[in-house]
Amino acid sequence: MKYESFTELKEDCLKCEKCPLATTRTQVVFGVGNENADILFVGEGPGENEDLQGEPFVGKAGQLLDKYLQVIDLDRKKNIYIANIVKCRPPKNRDPEATEQDSCIEWLRCQTRLIKPKIIVCLGRISAQKLISEDFKVTRQHGEFIKKGNIYFMGTFHPAALLRNPGNKPDALSDFQALREKIKELNIEI
Ligand code: URA
Repeated sequence: MKYESFTELKEDCLKCEKCPLATTRTQVVFGVGNENADILFVGEGPGENEDLQGEPFVGKAGQLLDKYLQVIDLDRKKNIYIANIVKCRPPKNRDPEATEQDSCIEWLRCQTRLIKPKIIVCLGRISAQKLISEDFKVTRQHGEFIKKGNIYFMGTFHPAALLRNPGNKPDALSDFQALREKIKELNIEI
C-alpha cells in the first residue's frame, strides 16, 4: 500500500477489518503525536482505556511513559509520535497473536514511511521482537541501539511491566538517558 498523506492512511486504517480484533474493539487506536517527528515510539497494542479513548498509552502505563519522556524533554504533543504494533485491543489485554500482528503491521509500516523517523523506540518485548529481532530479550538488550537501514532501533521495558516490576525503573531511566544522548549525537532538533 502506498499512501501520500496521513489523512488518507488514517481514514483507511480506522475502517480496517483485516483481523478478528475488529469485531471486539470499541475503536481503532491509530496513533498520536507529531507526524514529522524524528522519534517514533511503538508499543504493543491498546488496553481498555486506549480502546475507549482512541489514543495510545492513556492509562496508568501511559502516565508513567509521559514521565520518562518529560525527563528527556520529549512530549507526545510536540516532538514524538506514538503508535502500537496492533491498532485494536486484544480481548482482556492478552498478547496480540502472531496472525493479528501480521495482519496489522502494514499500517505501522505505512506510518513509518510517512513519518520517516531517525529513531524507533520499542516499548516492551512484543514490539522489540517484531521490529528488532525475533529473539530480542528486553532484560539483556534494553538500551542498545541497533541500526537497520537508516533507522536506529532501541528496545526498552514496557511501562506496564515497570508498574509490575518497579525494580527495573532505574534501568529504564538510563535507557531514556541513552536515547537523549543518541538524539544529541544525531543532531536531532527536538
Ligand atoms: N500498552 C501498549 O502497548 N500500548 C498502549 O497504547 C497502551 C498500553
